[in-house]
Amino acid sequence: MKVIVLDNYQQISIKAAQIVASQIILKEDSILGLATGGTPVGMYSELVKMYKLGIIDFKKIKTFNLDEYVGLSKENQQSYYYYMMDNLFKHVNINIENIDIPNGMADIKEECVRYENEIKQSGGIDLQVLGIGHNGHIGFNEPDIKFESVTHLVKLDEDTIKANSRFFDSVDEVPKQALSMGIKTIMHSKKIVLIASGKEKAKAIYGTVKGNITPNLPASILQLHNDVYIIADKEAASLL
Ligand code: F6R
Repeated sequence: MKVIVLDNYQQISIKAAQIVASQIILKEDSILGLATGGTPVGMYSELVKMYKLGIIDFKKIKTFNLDEYVGLSKENQQSYYYYMMDNLFKHVNINIENIDIPNGMADIKEECVRYENEIKQSGGIDLQVLGIGHNGHIGFNEPDIKFESVTHLVKLDEDTIKANSRFFDSVDEVPKQALSMGIKTIMHSKKIVLIASGKEKAKAIYGTVKGNITPNLPASILQLHNDVYIIADKEAASLL
C-alpha cells in the first residue's frame, strides 16, 4: 500500500488524474473501474482537461462503474449513469458502447450476474478508482460485508443515506438500495487508487491503512492487495 498525502483537494485530484492518465497512455485499451460521489469530481475535471490538451485518448477505453442506485433510470439526474455522463463521458471521446454501469432498473439477480460476467469477459479491471465512505465502505460494500462478495444488491446504511442526501432534495429521496461490485470484484482489479478528502474521512483512512483487516471497515481489505495507492489530503490523513 502506497500512501500519498498532499496538501489539499486540488492536489489529490491532480495526482489521481495523473495515475489514471498514465494507465491510459501505457495501455490505450485499458479497462477502467470508476467511482462516483463528491470526491472524484475534481479528478474527472483534470482528466477532461488532459483530454482537451491531447494528452489522453479515450477511444479504446472501456469502463465499469462501482455502483448504481436501485430504481433510478439513466435519465434521472441523481443516477450514477447521469453523473458519469455529466462529469466525464460527454466531455471525452469514449465510445458509449464501452461504458458499463449496473442498471438499477433491471431485474436485480440477472443484472448482478450479467455485470460480473462482463467484467470477467473484458479481461478484468486494469485500474480501479475508489472513494471511501465515512464508515469505511468501498463501492457500496457497507460494514460487515462478506469479503468474498461479487456484484450484489446492497441495503444502504443509515450513515450512507444521510451522507448522500446532500445530492438529493431531501433524505427521503435517497434510494435505500443499490447494486454494487463486491469486495472480491474490487480486489481482482490489477491496480487500485483510493482518494479521500476532508476530516470526516480521517477515521476511515486510519482504519484502511493502520487498522486491523476487518469486515467492519471494508476498505481495510485493501492492505492485502499488492498494488494500491491511497491518495489523501492532509485532513483525511490527519490520524495517520
Ligand atoms: C461511489 C462509491 C462510494 C463513494 C463513497 C464516498 O461510486 O462507490 O463508495 O466513493 O461513498 O463518497 P464521497 O466521495 O461523496 O464522499
